[in-house]
This record gives sequence, C-alpha cells and structure tokens, in this order.
Amino acid sequence: MPLPDNEKVVALADALLKQFDGIFGVHPGFRPAHAKGLLLSGTFTPAADATFLTRAPHVKRESTPISLRFSNSSGIPTMPDNNPQANPRGMAVRFHLAERVHTDIVSHATDGFPTRTGEEFLEFLQAAAASEGSKESPTPIQKFVASHPKALAFVQKPKPSPSSFARETYFGVTAMEFINAGGERKFGRYRIMPEAGNDHLSDDAASGKDPEFLFDEIKSRVAVGPVSFRLLVQVAESSDVVDDATEHWPEDRRLVELGRLVLDGISEDNPAQQQHIIFDPIPRVDGIEASPDPLLELRAAVYLLSGRRRRAAE
Ligand code: HEM
Repeated sequence: MPLPDNEKVVALADALLKQFDGIFGVHPGFRPAHAKGLLLSGTFTPAADATFLTRAPHVKRESTPISLRFSNSSGIPTMPDNNPQANPRGMAVRFHLAERVHTDIVSHATDGFPTRTGEEFLEFLQAAAASEGSKESPTPIQKFVASHPKALAFVQKPKPSPSSFARETYFGVTAMEFINAGGERKFGRYRIMPEAGNDHLSDDAASGKDPEFLFDEIKSRVAVGPVSFRLLVQVAESSDVVDDATEHWPEDRRLVELGRLVLDGISEDNPAQQQHIIFDPIPRVDGIEASPDPLLELRAAVYLLSGRRRRAAE
C-alpha cells in the first residue's frame, strides 16, 4: 500500500506519530497506539444477505482465512488490562484473499471518535499532553472539550471493560461505501458483535482483576473452543452524514449481516507477526471503497508510517 501523494497528509501523519511518542514514550517494535495486542487466526464465512451490499471477493467465496488482532488502547506495550485507560479495546481483522492480497477492518469498542479531522485530533492530543500535571484552571484539555462538544461527548461516553475480548462489540466508526454486483452503492459502518453476547464489568470489578486478565482469558477460551462474532454493516439512509466519525446514525438503521468471524487459534510467532502486520483502514478491494471521511486517508498514512518504523526496529 502506498503513502498518499498529498504532502500535507503525510506531514500531519508524522506529527501525530510524534505526539503519540511524546505521550506514551518510544517503544521500538511496538505500535504507538494499541501497543499491547494478540494475533489470532480463523475463518470468515459469508451470510446469505451479504451480496445485497457488496460484490467483494470474500462474500462470494465459501470461506476466507483471517488474522485478527485484539488490543488495549494506549501506546504502552505493557498496558495493564485492568487499567480503565486500556478502553476502548481494539479489533483489527485481515481477510487473506490470495497470496499477498488482503482487505482489512480496523475497529474499536466505542461507537464514535472525538474529532472529525486529523488536525483536530492532533490538537486534542496536544491539549491532553499539556494537561498532565498542569496547574492551569481550566486545563488545556478542559478548554478543548468545552469548545468541542463532540469531543466532550466521546470523552464522557462510558467505556466499561469487557469481561472478555470475546464479549465486546466493536465499531468501524468511519463509513465505507459498499458496491454490489448490480453497481448499487450504499454507505455503511461495520459493527462486529460477539456471539457470546456483550458482558461488561463494573469499574470496581475491573480494577480488581489481574493486569493480564483479558489476554489470559482469550488464550484459554480459544484453546477450548471457537470464538465467534457476527460481522454486520449498519446501512446509512440518504439523510445520514457519511464523512464524519463524530456523527451517530439513528439506531433503527438496517443492520445487514456480512458473515461470521470464527477464531480457532493463536497465531504462531505472535510477537514477530504483530511487529510485521500493518493493518490498513482503507479497504482497497473491489466492492468496498473508502467514504469521503477525512480520517481514512490520514489514518492509512499514519498506520503505514508507523508500521514501517516498527518493521525496521531491531
Ligand atoms: C486521526 C485518527 C486516528 C489516529 C491518528 C490513530 C492512530 C493510530 C496509530 C498510530 C496506530 C498504530 C498503527 C500501527 O502502528 O500499525 C493505531 C492503531 C489502531 N487504531 Fe487508530 N488512530 C485514529 C483513529 C482510529 C479510529 C477511528 C479507530 C477505530 C475505528 C482506531 C482504532 C485503532 C486500532 C484498533 C488500532 C490497532 C490496530 C492493530 O491491531 O494493528 N483508530 N491508531
């Protein structure tokens, strides 16, 4: 996957990476966000309805191998699972379509994002960093959220810890454009729901857990049986805003099932594979295209720059 030609996007991506480095420290070989993770392997099987939305290759085949990475938020590779700042948890999925051909989904467990653009997200991170130990009142981050109601709503949204990575719902947040065999186009957002059902812990229960409780739990769970999710798309209506990750769509929007993600094992050489794999927020596959959301091109550049740096680390 290439870096965008737009130099401004690349410069902003670089500034965001430096900002993460400043907040979490530099940890060569690890991601500057969602640093602690685990890679699993499994299979995607499409649902009957999937071709209504897209002609993408993985919905037309009987099954497609997948790699899936669960992660804690934050750029700290040892982030304790029982720390509330480890929310929202992340899920990144790669569909292996052929040798070196793939398409990905990057999602997290909060339905939304604090800012519409990358420039604003950089300001948000700068304000958060400047507020650490700040004696100013209000602090820079309090000032930022006071003037950015969507960021305030995101910050205030409860982000409880799940009891298991397998009992959490993950949201794609940025819209994609789905194109079916007849050329019909529809915008939609991924929603990945656990077949085991959602289950969240109270803050007290979560803080009493072990720092490795979620990663230990998912390893033991997948050792005794498959872990499965339903891959859904929340389909936009023509009045819905499709280029703004801070905008919610009404809950009554149709959910179309694309299929099931079934995990059956932990990937071999996990640390090396995690270091190597670079998930791409842009689908780059026939039948699923990026929406005009400005976060997508930027994130693709950020993840690529970050991934190249991670691969180059000793
Ligand atoms: C401007 C907005 C954003 C920035 C600057 C940003 C930044 C980053 C960075 C630097 C990484 C590490 C990437 C790598 O080294 O491979 C990352 C990973 C990740 N981000 Fe974001 N992010 C943004 C928006 C989002 C959104 C909207 C979501 C949720 C839909 C999200 C979910 C994740 C997840 C799950 C990972 C881990 C992916 C993996 O397992 O490799 N991010 N992000």
